[in-house]
Amino acid sequence: MDHFLYRNGVLHAEDVPVTEIAAAVGTPFYLYSTATLLRHFALFDEALAGTDHLVCYAMKAASNQAILRTLAQAGAGMDVVSMGEYLRARAAGVPGERIVFSGVGKTGDEIRTALQGGIRQFNVESEPEMEVLNAVALSLGKVAPITIRVNPDVDAKTHTKIATGKSENKFGIPIARARAVYAMAGAMRGLDVIGIDVHIGSQLTDLAPFEAAYTKVAELTEQLRADGHDIRRLDLGGGLGIPYERSNSAPPLPLDYGALIKRTLAHLGCEIEIEPGRLIAGNAGIMVSKVIYLKSGEGRDFLIIDGAMNDLIRPAMYDAHHDIVPVIEPAAGTEQQPYDIVGPVCESGDTFARQRDMPPLAAGDLIAFRGAGAYGAVMASEYNTRPLIPEVLVNGDQFAVIRPRPTFDEMINRDTIPEWL
Ligand code: LLP
Repeated sequence: MDHFLYRNGVLHAEDVPVTEIAAAVGTPFYLYSTATLLRHFALFDEALAGTDHLVCYAMKAASNQAILRTLAQAGAGMDVVSMGEYLRARAAGVPGERIVFSGVGKTGDEIRTALQGGIRQFNVESEPEMEVLNAVALSLGKVAPITIRVNPDVDAKTHTKIATGKSENKFGIPIARARAVYAMAGAMRGLDVIGIDVHIGSQLTDLAPFEAAYTKVAELTEQLRADGHDIRRLDLGGGLGIPYERSNSAPPLPLDYGALIKRTLAHLGCEIEIEPGRLIAGNAGIMVSKVIYLKSGEGRDFLIIDGAMNDLIRPAMYDAHHDIVPVIEPAAGTEQQPYDIVGPVCESGDTFARQRDMPPLAAGDLIAFRGAGAYGAVMASEYNTRPLIPEVLVNGDQFAVIRPRPTFDEMINRDTIPEWL
């Protein structure tokens, strides 16, 4: 459930008409709902009630500091994957002891910054990374808390570009080699081996792959304990999918996911961490855009809108479906007609939907892309020298621009032209 609903014939974000925000900030823009973010966070938190746990929001999904602070104030930790994310989380007020550092390619600099600034744990992904982490920790006179990410060789049954738990993926250490790698880690004085990490992929719509992976993690926990490691924390990654198409059946709920976690792992008495990103932010955000032209093609009508693939890349990159709705609610019984909904960028890939049934639309009409809160703004670029679009946060009857649209001067003046030109 989200808080983008029609009221009096106009799409609202909580108590604010989307038309009012569009008039104030111009289109296109991203719009997030505080109540939805908090509700989704609470669903995970409640699903794990009764177990020692921390929900570490995977901030790669939507990393505006206003979003981070909203979630951190509700008790969330953060999962970060780069120096930039670490510094951004800290700037938003998240304490180091609630930040976990994931990612396959952490550099020595990133590790040093996090160790000095404070960190809950590093999720180590390879032996060479382990050696760098150990060396940096020793050079600082610190001991780095680590889990090791294992690759359980489980098929997440999701889009290949976002599946991470098969042995051919670049992520984690093959689970078959885990005991040997834990033994290496245990012998390093700069490391404190506290747990196991696993993340098998994103947009999972079935719990079975989670169950397969977590069952393997439970077995490994017992083996590692027998080997003498004090395994006390399990980081289970993120990945629970969201309903992108309202007409489709809904993916499992956080409550079911929490029950699965308890069923497979609670007997071990470990602290549980999860790293959801998409389910917290996805349906808490929409992208609002305006129709520039209605163009009649050969046997089809194109809606050319002011949002483009550089603003929301998911359809071009993953053939992802986003529900698209008019901001002004169509009258009951309005006949739908098919449109190709496209942006102004000079590529055929700049297509959001083909032959999508919509009520009749005309130049100037506003439309909203649902499910755009996660992996939307964060994956935007300035391709075609199009400014990054603003982000707006609603809370009840108030809204605030949480990232303004840059001016063309700001964009253009970032280039420097060498003296010889
Ligand atoms: N933890 C780790 C280690 C991850 O790599 C990810 C996502 C998450 C947590 C959060 O997963 P989530 O709960 O959001 O599924 N850009 C793609 C999604 C990439 C996901 C990358 N890793 C998309 O737009 O679908």
